[in-house]
Amino acid sequence: MTGADETPHRRRLIIGNWKMNTTLAEAMTLATAIKEGAGQLSGVDLVICPPFPWLVPVAEILATHRQSALHLGAQNIAWQSGGAYTGEVSAAMLKGIVDYAIIGHSERRRYCHETGPMLAKKIRLSLDNKIKPVLCVGELTKPTAAVLRDPTAIGERQFVKLIEILAETVDHLTADERSKLVVAYEPVWAISANSGAEPADPHYVNAAAAALAEHLPSGTPILYGGSVNSTNAGHYLAQAAIAGLLVGGASLKATEFLKVAGA
Ligand code: PGA
Repeated sequence: MTGADETPHRRRLIIGNWKMNTTLAEAMTLATAIKEGAGQLSGVDLVICPPFPWLVPVAEILATHRQSALHLGAQNIAWQSGGAYTGEVSAAMLKGIVDYAIIGHSERRRYCHETGPMLAKKIRLSLDNKIKPVLCVGELTKPTAAVLRDPTAIGERQFVKLIEILAETVDHLTADERSKLVVAYEPVWAISANSGAEPADPHYVNAAAAALAEHLPSGTPILYGGSVNSTNAGHYLAQAAIAGLLVGGASLKATEFLKVAGA
């Protein structure tokens, strides 16, 4: 059994979320460079999540001399299976193209008003279409200065809101669906695009992930996301409750993303 403060030896999952960035030419260059570097990594599953229109061209790049540890993911999927939903992309359309889908990223919760029950539908549709859902959860408010100064002093009360956010979605899932989730802990105050963002303390992240794990089936991979870069990645990956990383800004440069993955 792995003790709470031991570094576990397991395969890591490192996901790059390109968000609404890259031209087609930039996406092809980035995917090609990541693919070339991925062969040098071991013990890591890498996932890249380009914008929707670049998924097929990037899939074609990944298919030539395929690296078995390099996968494609979508940044979102629709909450309905098909029909009159202008601008949406269904899980069925993505089946066979992507292996993963990011579900409920804080930017979608904020700008597109996605709710817990809606995210549960997305998760169900992903699973029905053989796509691994990566559910993002994170609290909006930065912990107090005292907690940030001394993260070992955090009590369970600290994560009440976080667990509520998780429950808003997972309470709508069956035990079998819950057992197939990847969860990304993404404190919104730590995401680089938000003003005043700062990376969360790795011990704080570990405590949050451990709190989430208590409400998830045993063995659910829990990733961390929020201002991850090649300098801090190793500190997060050393935490017992952290199985990998969800990387935004730092996934847009191949060398930096590969360094994060190899950290
Ligand atoms: P960041 O983004 O690494 O740029 O902070 C993370 C995310 O939004 O998933």
